[in-house]
Amino acid sequence: MRIAVIGSGYVGLVSAACFAEIGHDVISVDSDGAKIAALERGEVPIHERFVPELLSRHRGGRLRFSTSVKEAVSTSEAVFITVGTPQSETGEADLSFVDAVAREIASAVHGSKVIIEKSTVPVSTCDSLRQTLLLSGAHPGSFSVASNPEFLREGTAVTDFLYPDRIVIGVDDELSTSVLRAIYKPLISGSYYGQETVIPFSGYAHKQAPLIVTNAKSAELIKHASNAFLAMKISFINAIANISESVGADIEQICAGIGSDSRIGPKFLNAGIGYGGSCFPKDVQAFYAVANQCNYDFGLLTEVMRINAEQGPRFLKKVKSALWTLRGKRLAVLGVAFKGDTDDVRESPAIAIIQTLLREGVQVQVYDPAAMPKAKDVLPSKDVVYANDPYEAAANCDALLILTEWKEFSNLDLRRIRLLLKHPIVIDGRNLYPTDRMTSAGLIYYSVGRAVGVPEPMSSIARHGDAGLQLPLPTVIRPAVAG
Ligand code: UGA
Repeated sequence: MRIAVIGSGYVGLVSAACFAEIGHDVISVDSDGAKIAALERGEVPIHERFVPELLSRHRGGRLRFSTSVKEAVSTSEAVFITVGTPQSETGEADLSFVDAVAREIASAVHGSKVIIEKSTVPVSTCDSLRQTLLLSGAHPGSFSVASNPEFLREGTAVTDFLYPDRIVIGVDDELSTSVLRAIYKPLISGSYYGQETVIPFSGYAHKQAPLIVTNAKSAELIKHASNAFLAMKISFINAIANISESVGADIEQICAGIGSDSRIGPKFLNAGIGYGGSCFPKDVQAFYAVANQCNYDFGLLTEVMRINAEQGPRFLKKVKSALWTLRGKRLAVLGVAFKGDTDDVRESPAIAIIQTLLREGVQVQVYDPAAMPKAKDVLPSKDVVYANDPYEAAANCDALLILTEWKEFSNLDLRRIRLLLKHPIVIDGRNLYPTDRMTSAGLIYYSVGRAVGVPEPMSSIARHGDAGLQLPLPTVIRPAVAG
């Protein structure tokens, strides 16, 4: 099948590369000429596992790049729209990029093409898209419109695409149904997984990707509802963590207890400093606005957002209680990305926390395995020290903060960290360690939803040269004993 993918951002580029991987001829389009030229030269604009392999496998063969929507549409049978839908000032999704692309597509539509919305959009966008295409001159019989939401996560985007939990197609006519079925056939039939050069996947995967066929409006709602539900799961567990912390219970034990109920499941129950990124904050807000337009007050989502907004300030309170005062202190921060395995810092809770620390007069030494180049746009080098590794970041600091769940941060040489820090204090916003691992390395360990871990005996943790240091003693609240 000949496919055009309009918009070469995260979703667009991954989708284009994966469509080529499963056998289609793809043109990936972007209005940014410099980006297209870089892609043509072989550069990879995003930090995403397997994207470099897929681009080098298919570039110049089944995958081409262009800045011309017209050219791409006129030579394709299916056109995916994957442009951005940022948040507008009112919280709604700003659909002006989709609108602009639709107008361009209209001028090139002829024969019978399927125009597929893949960006995250409010319900009824397919109707508006159809209307705009018609008003912009597309002939009524020359196109169909469909929805095919994408569920890929940054960091695992390629395997999320190729080994999906489900593929959702929102179709209102025969043409869209047959074209979308044909596009995903290698995954739905499982034929892709038998190929020798298949992209490997170590998790559980269906032998044949499940296909869910709905009407367009339902597919649009599935996407918003999925992201809102996942955000709700995170806020829910963060609320439980806040209660757990104040009574001295252990959120990790609680998660094991509730997550083993198969109706709840263990995933997305990691308490921390709140969700961030380019999707959840914007999508929950946009879905709330959608509900409002339907005259439904979705107050649950207001709570999800409120709990999320409070996690950063709560964490900062913890930092203050560990250090007593902040001005003039030097802190090591591990992680600036909004989550592990990505270089993306958009809406990163780590960035917001660092910015507050800087305003409070703290000196910050940062390390992140991938996100430092992007972080420099919002945290310039004149304000923070960028270190080459976690140990360089920790050197001579009053405490170490962990703000992103990178795998490599969960296996630090803790004794080395203890020797490097001025005071043996770790404040972990992502719960990467069992408390006893930290305390047995001589570190006082603050985390989320768990009691503070204090090494025994406290006196043995004063490092050489720290004689006489007044260690800030954490408040450990014990649960009341019943009976
Ligand atoms: C999210 C969804 O997971 C994807 O299914 C969806 O396709 C995508 O948005 C999108 O709409 O495009 P993504 O934003 O890449 O994907 O990242 P997630 O892995 O979902 O993490 C989002 C945030 O939640 C991160 O800040 C992460 O640290 C946080 N999180 C995640 C937690 O705090 N706890 C958890 O248990 C899980």
